[in-house]
Amino acid sequence: MTLAERTLARFSALVGATPDLAVRAPGRVNLIGEHTDYNDGFVLPAAIGLQSIVAVRRRPDSIVRMIAADFGDAVSEFDLGRPIARDPGQPWSDYIRGVATVLQAEDVQLGGLDMLVAGDIPQGSGLSSSASLSVASGMAFGGLFAPGRFDATQIALIAQRAECDFVGMRCGNMDQLASAHGAVDHALLIDCRSLAVRPVALPPDMAILIVHSGISRGLVDGHYNERRAQCEVVAHQLGAPALRDVTLDQLEGARADLDPFAYRRARHVVNENARTLAAAEAMAAGDLVTLGELMAASHVSMRDDFEITLPAIDELVAELQTAIGNRGGARMTGGGFGGAVVALVEADAAEALARQIVARYRTPDDEKPLIMVERAHAGASFL
Ligand code: GLA
Repeated sequence: MTLAERTLARFSALVGATPDLAVRAPGRVNLIGEHTDYNDGFVLPAAIGLQSIVAVRRRPDSIVRMIAADFGDAVSEFDLGRPIARDPGQPWSDYIRGVATVLQAEDVQLGGLDMLVAGDIPQGSGLSSSASLSVASGMAFGGLFAPGRFDATQIALIAQRAECDFVGMRCGNMDQLASAHGAVDHALLIDCRSLAVRPVALPPDMAILIVHSGISRGLVDGHYNERRAQCEVVAHQLGAPALRDVTLDQLEGARADLDPFAYRRARHVVNENARTLAAAEAMAAGDLVTLGELMAASHVSMRDDFEITLPAIDELVAELQTAIGNRGGARMTGGGFGGAVVALVEADAAEALARQIVARYRTPDDEKPLIMVERAHAGASFL
């Protein structure tokens, strides 16, 4: 049985009736363009096969009752007639609570429902388990209570606001836009300011290899919001709306006046925006050598300038890069401080490379790493 089939069957068993609707929303892997989204810059993610599923059925009252299949059917509920608060005992429910709060602020008349959520994206892997849950819940609420009102981009922005304003993770919009807009066999070049999404075909004979380091990061752990604040300070000091608007020359010219840490954070973002645009071009042209070089430079920049990698991740990336040579590339993906490494690798070589990593790498719990050979998948949809 697929995850979707299992979730629908579980819903009927737990709620005693079939769902009114169900939604799937994928996780994403970012190929390049890290910590650029909240600087109004460019990203190049792809939606993946791992996903969240949300199934809902209306209730006659104003209670939203959420059940998490992946947490032993843990239940969390709230009353739409009262201010919605977070549930520290069931933090997974905060993403759904956040989405409901944002929709209420948008004057959507929500009604009570039973909701079952399930997914197969490892948490803390940097593959957007939370964004996929938020997007799926946004589509589920929207599908029942405001059908046709929100397009994919609007759903993504609602999901992002839920995470920023309600959960307190001041994320950018990449994860939600990637989950909402994913395209089969395409990465997405997203302009995080204009919100333009341009699908870029992945080279046909390449696979996306994802290795989860097994080092999970807490997203609201401060590092992320701190990096974001540093970027905003530099943009402000340079009189720019965002680092997107800052050139390398401008940044170098102001270096003496900038805090040395903040300077390096900003240098990462300015260079990473340029690398992301160049990578999209290289990908479209099937230029794997340039693509690999840009991915390598991105990793070095995350390690030395943005300082969000860890030694174990650097080693994993180096091992992948050595094995891949100039037929693809590898880098850490996602917010950092753990999570996953992504590699673009010739499809024929992917399984052997996966076996090589499994034979050597061990997670902090001394286990074999979770490895996925992926293609790019479609964005969120109703089931
Ligand atoms: C997390 C955030 C995204 C993005 C990445 C870093 O995944 O949710 O908005 O900032 O980190 O690129």
